[in-house]
Amino acid sequence: MLLEVRDVTKNFGALVANDRVSFTVDQGTIVGLIGPNGAGKTTLFNCISGLYPTTAGRIFFDGTEITGLPSFRIARLGAVRTFQVVRPLKEMTVFDNVLVGAFLQGAGSKKARATAEECIRMCNLAEFTNKPAGDLPIGGKKRLELARALATGPKLLMLDEVMAGLTSTEVKGALEVIHGIRRQGITLLIVEHIMEAIMPIADKVVVLDGGIKIAEGPPDRIIDDERVISAYLGTKFSRRLQAKREERNNA
Ligand SMILES: Nc1ncnc2c1ncn2[C@@H]1O[C@H](COP(=O)(O)OP(=O)(O)O)[C@@H](O)[C@H]1O
Ligand SMILES: [Mg+2]
Repeated sequence: MLLEVRDVTKNFGALVANDRVSFTVDQGTIVGLIGPNGAGKTTLFNCISGLYPTTAGRIFFDGTEITGLPSFRIARLGAVRTFQVVRPLKEMTVFDNVLVGAFLQGAGSKKARATAEECIRMCNLAEFTNKPAGDLPIGGKKRLELARALATGPKLLMLDEVMAGLTSTEVKGALEVIHGIRRQGITLLIVEHIMEAIMPIADKVVVLDGGIKIAEGPPDRIIDDERVISAYLGTKFSRRLQAKREERNNA
């Protein structure tokens, strides 16, 4: 087990954004974190990555309790997240943006440059290497966010809606990048709204609604879960997948 979230609660005044949430992420797996807007997904990322202190509960990463640690120390231990709102250093080149991530590893400049190059290649950004980050199209900015996080050499990469706002072709590209990251042995915790993107790649899905974990399990079970369907998926999505499955079974 690489990450354990144990009874984590996060209050903002009277609002309970995360309510005794518990789940684990095994080494080498992809875990999806889904739920309607305002469910508390980003807040949970903020708690795990040390951006917000938790109100209650404990978080363990790679054998160490990280509850209450500052985010730079959590990042240095290898738990790194991207931000839902991408914010590259616009004036800097794509290469330099990624290099900033690589330096976080404490690598020397030669090693850091090689790492940055490798991450840029993995995220299909090679053609933009020397362009200002501000010039990237949205899909490119999302991949830059990914490349920057990757360059820090994470054990756990937490992605917050990296596929939102992308065209379906761009989503396919992003999924290939994610598969490449997994093949490197990096564990992934992914917040994603596009079910067609997350369901096929996730080993396990955790569902939040109103700050509470309402379901956890393999994608196949989650899409048939009555509570998940009524809280989030709706019957439309579920029926479509059901039809696809029947098609496969009949073939
Ligand atoms: N910094 C904050 N201060 C006050 N309320 C917040 C803050 N961040 C999030 N919230 C509230 O917490 C709830 C969960 O938000 P969020 O974690 O962003 O949900 P999600 O990412 O699942 O859409 C929402 O009601 C949101 O308004
Ligand atoms: Mg969010």
